[in-house]
Amino acid sequence: MISNSNIEHRRMPLSSVHANTWFCVCVMVSAMEEFQVIVHTLPAPTSGTYSILRLTLIGSEGGETPPISVNAGANQHHLLPGSACVVRVWSEVALGRVVLVRLRLEARTGFPDLDWHCRGVEVRRLCDRQEEGTGLQHQGVEHFPCSRWLRSVDGDVELRNGDMCLLNSETVQTLKDHRLKDLHTKQQHIRWRTFAEGVPHCVDMTSLKELGPNLSYTRQSPGINLQYLRGFDERAESWSSFTELETMFSHNGSQNTVAKYVQAHWAEDWFFGYQCLNGCNPLMVRQTRLLPPNLSINSDILCPFLPDGSSLEQELERGSIFLLDYEMLEGVPANVINGKQQFLAAPLVLLHLNQEEELKPIAIQLQQAPGPQNPVFLPSDPGPDWLLAKTWVRCSDFQCHQLSSHFLRTHLLGEVCCTATLRQLPEVHPLHQLLMPHIKTTLQINIQARASLLAANGVFDKAIGCGLEALPVLLSRATERLRYRSLCVPDDLADRGIHTLKHCYYAHDALRVWTALHRFVSGWVDVYYLGNQDVEQDSELQSWITEIYTHGFLQLPHSGCPQSFQTKPELSQFVTMVIYCCSALHAAVNFSQVDFDLWMPNCPASMTHPPPQTKGMLTEDEILSILPDVNSTCNLLITLFLLSQPAADYVPLCQYREPVFSSGAPRRLVEKVQAELRAISDEITDRNKKLELPYDYMSPDRIENSVAI
Ligand SMILES: *[C@@H]1O[C@H](CO)[C@@H](O)[C@H](O)[C@H]1NC(C)=O
Ligand SMILES: *[C@@H]1O[C@H](CO)[C@@H](O)[C@H](O)[C@H]1NC(C)=O
Ligand SMILES: *[C@@H]1O[C@H](CO)[C@@H](O)[C@H](O)[C@H]1NC(C)=O
Ligand SMILES: *[C@@H]1O[C@H](CO)[C@@H](O)[C@H](O)[C@H]1NC(C)=O
Ligand SMILES: *[C@@H]1O[C@H](CO)[C@@H](O)[C@H](O)[C@H]1NC(C)=O
Ligand SMILES: [Fe+2]
Repeated sequence: MISNSNIEHRRMPLSSVHANTWFCVCVMVSAMEEFQVIVHTLPAPTSGTYSILRLTLIGSEGGETPPISVNAGANQHHLLPGSACVVRVWSEVALGRVVLVRLRLEARTGFPDLDWHCRGVEVRRLCDRQEEGTGLQHQGVEHFPCSRWLRSVDGDVELRNGDMCLLNSETVQTLKDHRLKDLHTKQQHIRWRTFAEGVPHCVDMTSLKELGPNLSYTRQSPGINLQYLRGFDERAESWSSFTELETMFSHNGSQNTVAKYVQAHWAEDWFFGYQCLNGCNPLMVRQTRLLPPNLSINSDILCPFLPDGSSLEQELERGSIFLLDYEMLEGVPANVINGKQQFLAAPLVLLHLNQEEELKPIAIQLQQAPGPQNPVFLPSDPGPDWLLAKTWVRCSDFQCHQLSSHFLRTHLLGEVCCTATLRQLPEVHPLHQLLMPHIKTTLQINIQARASLLAANGVFDKAIGCGLEALPVLLSRATERLRYRSLCVPDDLADRGIHTLKHCYYAHDALRVWTALHRFVSGWVDVYYLGNQDVEQDSELQSWITEIYTHGFLQLPHSGCPQSFQTKPELSQFVTMVIYCCSALHAAVNFSQVDFDLWMPNCPASMTHPPPQTKGMLTEDEILSILPDVNSTCNLLITLFLLSQPAADYVPLCQYREPVFSSGAPRRLVEKVQAELRAISDEITDRNKKLELPYDYMSPDRIENSVAI
């Protein structure tokens, strides 16, 4: 024992062993245990504190050491940013294995009560007889990672070591108790709230202050120059001509090669179809074998737009007919912008996949209920009528894109999973660790979105057809229509019949990324769950999925969301879905928005006149008087620019900074998935070289690990 301590002295001259006389006395009294403890503070400028830190070690046998002060009394350390304070701790009782480290901050009289960012604690047993003569052994060190802000008001905070495990494999009672305590504390702090009737519940916090530093992040991005929009922001009137709009666009859109391409081709039929497959909302189009009953067309009308000698029936049977159905928008109350009533439509669109594998619209009915005032527009109609009909569809798509594909399926789903994870899976649970890097940021971004974008005077209120009255209506309809199958890529692509389309790059890339993530998640599940029985018996996991079913899918059985897990494959599929939606899907629907929306007529956010009821009375420039005003256009563009700020510190898909990923089985799995994702990026790069308009939204090197904007 003595020799060990001496070695320790030589290696760690700074440590404050200074063999208190207390220690010496005790040594003689009983067989004591001695530990060297290193307390780490995060090396960031604001991480340190003046407060006194008390530390206790808790053993597997239930015994604990008397609390010592890390930075007071005999130990004159300071909890400075980046510091490692080394202290000695003795135990009079046999502790067994050290399983918890209890920390407690107490404000120091006369000093400000600063929060402290702990990075973790290392505990090294010094007087283990087995180690005698061998000096310090690395395996004698237990790591208690932390990476959290501690405050004096928190009282006792207990850290456990970094080894993940399921509740059933927990053998030490102290640790079982700690698991429960961890969840209990979280459940008091993190609660559910109803944001709108029929919409997934959200976290019950309205400010970042409530969220606190443990769950917030900062996104660093370069500033943007919006000077060129000055002077436009007061003009509550229509654009006077396409030339005027082009001039504004050329001041910035021309920097964006995709936006320029959009401007050049937005009015072409093939590009309309292209956007259904590879635009900013590739989630709507589906193959159909039947005509929707409400669409008032017949075979004869459509014959001219089908291959010679073929018929609508034959094309339906061949699987070359596709449908866009925006019934979700039927009867949704439209916004009032600049004092003017706006309008929404709920179009039905038939598209045909021709022999060149181009998807082209062949019939557009703007409202659901057929009737004389709801004509079906055809490619053979006068140019402006056909263009306006397509533009109405694009406007409808904008609403569904932003609220259903983007906000509901990525942001809200991520928030539901994050809230459920914090409440039901303790930190030591392997799925808590796997999921948090992908979902943690959703709480902050959604709290911010509810306080600004989705609030009074936010962009929905000021510039979008679905304003504040429509928002809850459309979101609840989208929720009611949400199907678990449609969130799982292989099922979704097959159900919609787009997995075999040669030019659906979204589908190809989505499937590859999904497959890599699925392999990774299955590997992770295999490490911690030996058989299906472990899944069934993981009560924490079952509470987690129940909570997601209840608060996310609102207990709607037709959603197909699992209510419990019986098998490992079910579990792996669900976890893959969560990671996919918060990373790759968000990239597909987010990155693309500026590119496709910058040329406003391609994606008008609102329409200022009702859907047309007649044909043959319109000129092309008159279309502009139906599109958004000058300043509501600018209002939307500013928001899109702000949201598309690249993060200087962005984390790409499956890159992890958390220590649990840096060793053992997790590390091997991470290295494997990273290699697979790199190969996918390379393939996408090669493919894109051959494309006139590259599709790189789903290239893994560009996908962010979580929804952070
Ligand atoms: C950070 O997390 C710890 C442990 O979960 C908690 O005790 C503490 O209150 C949190 N800090 C803040 C500032 O919310
Ligand atoms: C457009 O400008 C008018 C003032 O001319 C202002 O009242 C209105 O709020 C602006 N609209 C938008 C969408 O910014
Ligand atoms: C607009 O273009 C300028 C260069 O002309 C560029 O510096 C600026 O970042 C662009 N702004 C946006 C919002 O794209
Ligand atoms: C078809 O039209 C009727 C009115 O004629 C309407 O009530 C119904 O919702 C429409 N069907 C669909 C599927 O939207
Ligand atoms: C969202 O898209 C923009 C580009 O439009 C990009 O800069 C940003 O990093 C994306 N955010 C995420 C979380 O993918
Ligand atoms: Fe987003």
